[in-house]
Amino acid sequence: MNRHQFLRRLHRQLRPRTYLETGVADGRSMTLSRVPSIGIDPAFRIDQEIVADVHLARIASDEFFAREDPVAHLPISTVDLAFIDGMHLAEYALRDYLAVERFTHPSSVVVFDDMLPRTVAEAARHRHTAAWTGDVYKAVQALRDHRPDLIVLEVDTFPTGVVVVLRPDASRDGVMAEYDDWMDIALDPDPQDVPEEILTRSRAFKPEALLASDGWRTLRDLRDLPPAEAAAAVGQAFSGLLQPTR
Ligand SMILES: C[S@@+](CC[C@H](N)C(=O)[O-])C[C@H]1O[C@@H](n2cnc3c(N)ncnc32)[C@H](O)[C@@H]1O
Repeated sequence: MNRHQFLRRLHRQLRPRTYLETGVADGRSMTLSRVPSIGIDPAFRIDQEIVADVHLARIASDEFFAREDPVAHLPISTVDLAFIDGMHLAEYALRDYLAVERFTHPSSVVVFDDMLPRTVAEAARHRHTAAWTGDVYKAVQALRDHRPDLIVLEVDTFPTGVVVVLRPDASRDGVMAEYDDWMDIALDPDPQDVPEEILTRSRAFKPEALLASDGWRTLRDLRDLPPAEAAAAVGQAFSGLLQPTR
């Protein structure tokens, strides 16, 4: 299953009320949305029909999220589903996550693309391969290390894997206190020291197994609960997941 097939099925399972993506390019992932949406990309060039009521911002995501009310286009101030697929460098991906988290509810889902590079070359900060993930996988490592409250699931999609983050916490207000210390490590020059678990996908869920979870329906039911109550229920909703398999 590739990233777009996974996303298409996630849209169906989760039935988000709103969608946001960083990195729009030709619009292929945006075509999957059927709900009020925001797409951010300084260089998008849409070449297919987008069905959703979408606000396209031709601007870098850092600038977009610095606006006073970045999600003004949406009918509600909550982003139910976000796809982070903009600049393929770890610090940009992490900032995109922290910025969009401000507009989430614990029932929201954030998906990162290109999280499972297949080779060290593909994970280079300086692109020199056809398929390129860059080192965005480190953004998720930062969340694993500094945000144990989040549920972080690697997914074995073709070609370069995605990560699903559950139970975001808007009350963090876009801040990760360890960001500056993390940056010192994150910006290591190439070649990157990509962890074995990432290259082998040993922690990754089969996309079909994850999509088959009843948890997605439960997330929909949690949307109207106060954040603390919903957060407590999210872990339980996914506790029945199969163990990761290759
Ligand atoms: C891999 S493409 C996105 C593909 C698209 N999401 C899809 O799946 O069909 C990455 C895009 O990120 C955009 N990009 C680069 N830097 C960015 C930034 N700072 N903020 C938002 N988008 C950025 C690029 O212009 C490029 O179009």
